[in-house]
Amino acid sequence: MTARILDGLALATSVRGQLAERAATLKSQGVTPCLAVILVGEDPASAVYVRNKVAACEKAGMRSIKDSYAADIDPAEVFARIAELNADPEVHGILVQLPLPGHFDEDAVLEAIDPSKDVDGFHAGNIGALMQGNPRFIPCTPYGVMKMLEAEKVNLKGAEAVIVGRSNIVGKPMAMLLLAQSCTVTVCHSQSRDLAFHTRRADILVAAVGRARMIRGDMIKPGATVIDVGINRLPDGKLCGDVDFESAREVAGRITPVPGGVGPMTITMLLANTLEAAERTLMEKTA
Ligand code: GUN
Repeated sequence: MTARILDGLALATSVRGQLAERAATLKSQGVTPCLAVILVGEDPASAVYVRNKVAACEKAGMRSIKDSYAADIDPAEVFARIAELNADPEVHGILVQLPLPGHFDEDAVLEAIDPSKDVDGFHAGNIGALMQGNPRFIPCTPYGVMKMLEAEKVNLKGAEAVIVGRSNIVGKPMAMLLLAQSCTVTVCHSQSRDLAFHTRRADILVAAVGRARMIRGDMIKPGATVIDVGINRLPDGKLCGDVDFESAREVAGRITPVPGGVGPMTITMLLANTLEAAERTLMEKTA
């Protein structure tokens, strides 16, 4: 079997077109959706992600604000800026790019963001809402994965879903979303005893560990839907996922490529969350 390749770029382009239309409607009602992004330090990967997020906003007709700080900035300055953005009615979404330098208390920073502007969905209140099954903002990468599964009409009810990786950004919220769709969910991690035993049972396999090509074809159930969230840089500068694409595509039923799979959907869902936040403010105004 050769897997069907899920084109995240095509889906992202189509969804972004719809978002741009919604943004234009909001603008005509006097509200320009606006995302504020805070970047601390000089991590090159973070700088690229932030640049892409800002560019995507502009392209969809949304406003963006970017604040960059040196790695040794006093956290008090960042907290003061977050408070300012929380209070600004023209800012609808606030995102602090992670990871932060070691002298920051990352959880405290995320808690400082107004939950109604937390378009990453990382505030404890928003994570709690997601766990209760009433999400207010869904973290962007797992949200993008769910959109891809939905677009493909993947049957989730009763399916065995195995997630490799337990991060707050991907693994844990991914588990909640798949559970909400009635999957039987297993979360594997670095201490899992027999990884292949679990992955071979998966109808839906989500790889989110950040280790290049660690999921090989012989670890995949024939016909499975394989979602590769990893973005790893190889010594030759090329990008690759957590899944060994060449061997996996011979076994899987569907597979997402890297690049061009989940990546484009992540930023798309950030735009969706920002737009949603802006639409809510308008609804509150007119209520
Ligand atoms: N770092 C890696 N992924 C993310 C993300 O989705 N949001 C933020 N804020 N930082 C990240």
